[in-house]
Amino acid sequence: MSNVVILGTQWGDEGKGKIIDLLTEYASTVVRFQGGNNAGHTLVVGGEKFILHLIPSGILHPGKKCLIGNGVVVDPAVLISEIKRLRARGVKVTPKNLALSERAHLIMPYHNALDLAREARKGKKKIGTTGRGIGPCYEDKAARVGLRVVDLLNRKHFLANLRTNLEEKNFILEKFYKAEPLNRAKITRDSAKWTRFLAPFVANITERIDQTVRKNENILFEGAQGTHLDLDHGTYPFVTSSNPVAGSVSAGAGLGPKRIDSVVGLVKAYTTRVGDGPFPTELMDKIGKHLRDHGQEYGSTTGRPRRCGWLDTVVLRESARLNSLDMVALTKLDILTGLDKIKICVAYKLDGKKIKYIPADLNAFERCEPVYETLPGWTEDISGAKKMSGLPRAVQKYIHRLTDLIEVPVGIVSVGADREQTIMLKNPFKTSRKR
Ligand code: GDP
Ligand code: IMO
Ligand code: MG
Repeated sequence: MSNVVILGTQWGDEGKGKIIDLLTEYASTVVRFQGGNNAGHTLVVGGEKFILHLIPSGILHPGKKCLIGNGVVVDPAVLISEIKRLRARGVKVTPKNLALSERAHLIMPYHNALDLAREARKGKKKIGTTGRGIGPCYEDKAARVGLRVVDLLNRKHFLANLRTNLEEKNFILEKFYKAEPLNRAKITRDSAKWTRFLAPFVANITERIDQTVRKNENILFEGAQGTHLDLDHGTYPFVTSSNPVAGSVSAGAGLGPKRIDSVVGLVKAYTTRVGDGPFPTELMDKIGKHLRDHGQEYGSTTGRPRRCGWLDTVVLRESARLNSLDMVALTKLDILTGLDKIKICVAYKLDGKKIKYIPADLNAFERCEPVYETLPGWTEDISGAKKMSGLPRAVQKYIHRLTDLIEVPVGIVSVGADREQTIMLKNPFKTSRKR
């Protein structure tokens, strides 16, 4: 039995959905443990594309269980429409293969409204959130006033808390942000529909995970966002409001840290960022455009164009340390095809000094200039490669240099969006540490 965590090492959108879908074959259960529908995880199977926001990326595999842990913030309307959309495309989604933690917090319409109003007020200083109410929902959780999934099952309690919360939120929305207040009667009506639809999916997820562990079955933990969007370790305040690092599995799904066997870090072969915040290797030139156009770098959740730049190994080394990465899954290598030369950032120059870390002071990080190493590019189409030996020498050189720089082996290489376009060098379920 082994429990594997898959997470993003950059600023999200590294290709987690694809790799999780691929590895689901070796697990019985896939668990989301943080974030919400700010995530957009893309799966391509036989040319057909699915984008998942809340439902774990194992859902396309019949017979596998998908669990949404307590650390996730759940917008009930979004979850319902995601279930319906999948069903309309012939994917079976029932309480047999999907369960939702009773302890997960609910994203309420006032969270979305506050997220949008706050961003609008910040103007140029905005974070560039997805506008899905993620921050305000986690705030309420920490302030101990949030509504949880379990509250949907106790109507009296739910409505009493809704009334109290809405009184405060509407005051802030109207008086401070000069925004429209929300209508309690509408939320009350909608919430009755949420309860009817979602009640059969509600479960004690930590107990389900424990049962799975006791049966010696494999579990895959699906990270959302990326390490540098982490609330504690990322480029604060340009971060999300949860902890996408590996340590978050224990709090967000209720599995003790000693039960985690292997951590796989997703690395996109270049860097992207959607939303605001510092990004030292960002390219505003034709190479940046090449990456955006060829990589179709537009947000899976909001459709916003993603900012693109060279691979940054300062960022990756920090991710390797913060998550104790066992291996890397390297994605979108095919997108680098056709570039004359390829650069890798190996350090920063800060006020004339060479450094190999990310300064906590954002002003200092903004002054960091990348120090690059240049490697030869390649022109061969690699999107059909099945083996490492089938890759051009320049591609192999790029992979080896990355491994040397971050001191983590590359175990999976992805050369296209489809499940099939993958070279598996090491299967994390077969190479996990012995407990
Ligand atoms: P996630 O949030 O980490 O799951 O990543 P997204 O789904 O938001 O963005 C990754 C995008 O790259 C999706 O459109 C994937 O279909 C696509 N993708 C994943 N791996 C590869 C790859 O190796 N090559 C190419 N060309 N596309 C890929
Ligand atoms: P996946 O799981 C990329 C970014 C937003 C913004 C910041 C805060 O698909 O990799 P939030 O709405 O969370 O308060 O926004 O975080 N962000 C993501 N960027 N991929 C994601 O998820 C993201 N989820 C949030 O763009 O900069
Ligand atoms: Mg995404």
